[in-house]
Amino acid sequence: MTKIVLSLGGSILVPSLESHTISRYVEVLKKMASRSQVFVVVGGGGEARRYIGVTRTLGINEAASDEIGIMITRINASLLMYALGDAAYPAVATSYQEARVFAESGKIVVMGGVTPGQTTDAVSAVLAETVSADVVINGTSVDGIYSADPKKDAHARRYDRMTPQELLGIISAARLDAGSNTVIDIVAAKIIERCGIPLVVIDGRRPENLSEAVCEGTFTGTVVSDTACSLFPF
Ligand code: UTP
Repeated sequence: MTKIVLSLGGSILVPSLESHTISRYVEVLKKMASRSQVFVVVGGGGEARRYIGVTRTLGINEAASDEIGIMITRINASLLMYALGDAAYPAVATSYQEARVFAESGKIVVMGGVTPGQTTDAVSAVLAETVSADVVINGTSVDGIYSADPKKDAHARRYDRMTPQELLGIISAARLDAGSNTVIDIVAAKIIERCGIPLVVIDGRRPENLSEAVCEGTFTGTVVSDTACSLFPF
């Protein structure tokens, strides 16, 4: 069975607690899980950033702020896990090995952050390496990787395909403070480079984009891979 690690940014799943879109992802994830083993890594979103805003005003250091961010990712992951009901393993994995063991149930495995100094992008890359996934899908609030931030630069162009080395070239200048927001964090890009598992960055704001990519092979986004592999449908 194919294995998919899906990184669902908190910015699309829980932009704020009041504006969460969790119920819109439940059927999409179940559809994907009917054909593949699915692991979902959930981000912290707006609530993580609010908490990290408070840690800064209190003079709390970056590593401790990251720990707060991790707690929020796990709360968001719990919301998704419970919303998935029987389709999900009934606990949020807190380590990669735990995720591997939970996957033996055949159910969707949900997890959040793991360790300071990174984001859930890195968690999904390491998880993919741990479980020998076929692909990492990053569902985020842009429709791929751009040469510059498309929200700030009208001349930014989207890549359909790029190598991990090219990705590293684009993001290596970014800072990795708690709550920071680049399209993919550098730890994730390094892991993708070493493990050779393709990464696909797709606009996840419309949940069906994710299932259409996996089940039908149609998507707009960026494939990061060393080889010109054909990926979907699974
Ligand atoms: P993310 O940055 O991964 O969530 O985690 P997000 O903001 O929802 O992601 P996007 O922007 O939508 O893709 C929130 C914060 O939690 C801490 C970091 O401070 C991160 O910015 N964190 C998360 C860690 O320190 N380690 C982890 O493994 C995961």
